[in-house]
Amino acid sequence: MSANRVYIFDTTLRDGEQSPGCSMTTPEKLRMARKLVELGVDILEAGFPIASEGDFEAVRRVAAEFPDMRVAALARACRLDIERAAKSLEGAKRPRIHTFIATSDIHLKYKLHKTREQVLEEAVKAVELARSYVDDVEFSAEDATRTDPDYLEQVSLACIDAGATTINLPDTVGYSIPSEHGALIGRMVKAFQGRAIVSVHCHDDLGLAVANSLAAVQAGARQVECTINGIGERAGNCSLEEIVMAMKVRHDVLPYETAVNARELYPASRLLSELITFGPQPNKAIVGENAFAHEAGIHQDGYLKERTTYEIMTPDEVGVPASRLVLGKHSGRHALNQRCVDLGYRLSKEDLNLVYERFIAVADNRKKGLNNDEILAIIRQVVGAAQPAGD
Ligand code: KIV
Ligand code: ZN
Repeated sequence: MSANRVYIFDTTLRDGEQSPGCSMTTPEKLRMARKLVELGVDILEAGFPIASEGDFEAVRRVAAEFPDMRVAALARACRLDIERAAKSLEGAKRPRIHTFIATSDIHLKYKLHKTREQVLEEAVKAVELARSYVDDVEFSAEDATRTDPDYLEQVSLACIDAGATTINLPDTVGYSIPSEHGALIGRMVKAFQGRAIVSVHCHDDLGLAVANSLAAVQAGARQVECTINGIGERAGNCSLEEIVMAMKVRHDVLPYETAVNARELYPASRLLSELITFGPQPNKAIVGENAFAHEAGIHQDGYLKERTTYEIMTPDEVGVPASRLVLGKHSGRHALNQRCVDLGYRLSKEDLNLVYERFIAVADNRKKGLNNDEILAIIRQVVGAAQPAGD
């Protein structure tokens, strides 16, 4: 395996699913899991089995239906959770138990009411217990980025000694900034000396989840935890489509590889939007409705002359049907003429001017652009009942 291979750990079905408006039934989780497998993620976190019967069943069925997939089940660092996770993974060919406990002083004091020594001991015991069931154990130090780094290193090394194969250092509350995050991860990578894969799990409270994850990869992290459309607790998780495409489009400065088939990104995003109660915002990178739409006249003109003037990737590359030239009040004659031709009308200069005038009059009073039917109606008003000119 190349040293620059980055594992994509998808937690759409766990961290994503546990957030408001994102609940999925087991059959829905299975549909999404199928798409994630087609997409080529490396690890599928299918649920938190102690949390509900549904989560238990989802992990069990995902593992049964996708035997070649590495399937993870989440468990707090305690016997009951770990046993339940292990049970849900019994039929799995490639099971992973993902156990976690918070390590920051804030969490220790207000949430856990435990000392650092107690947390260290419980983390080690949890990893040992998980290892008694499976070979692949991930340990997460919840709220790692607000944890005293010396203590974080101590807990992580103890968990590696206890058998953890992946150490995940979550930015649970989305507090980090990229330079700081890179430095923290770099320190841990050095301390672990290749004995465990370093993973990151960034939340997006400051809109920095992708940037922080990339900084971590540059510092040596080789697993990124992320979700489709960036769904997840509060402002969400690192968006899978964004981090994958950043590494692909900017391979010159981010020379990392994943196994993701980028053409499945948009279909995966669409499917998730169908299954939950909301889709990505229109201006969402990669998969948003407007991600490949051009409305401003100058942009449309440049785009029509040479696509790369205003596009850094093709819609096709990420499975989006086609670039969209949105015809609205900012559009120019060039783009309108191109649309007329696409609709079958080669107009004279005079007719194009007339069509353009009427088009702008309508578009000026609109927040949204005109659709093809509306443009056709204007063309017909101008050219009368004349048949499309064809080629
Ligand atoms: O955000 C977080 O810290 C988590 C852990 C359970 C990995 O989701
Ligand atoms: Zn999380």
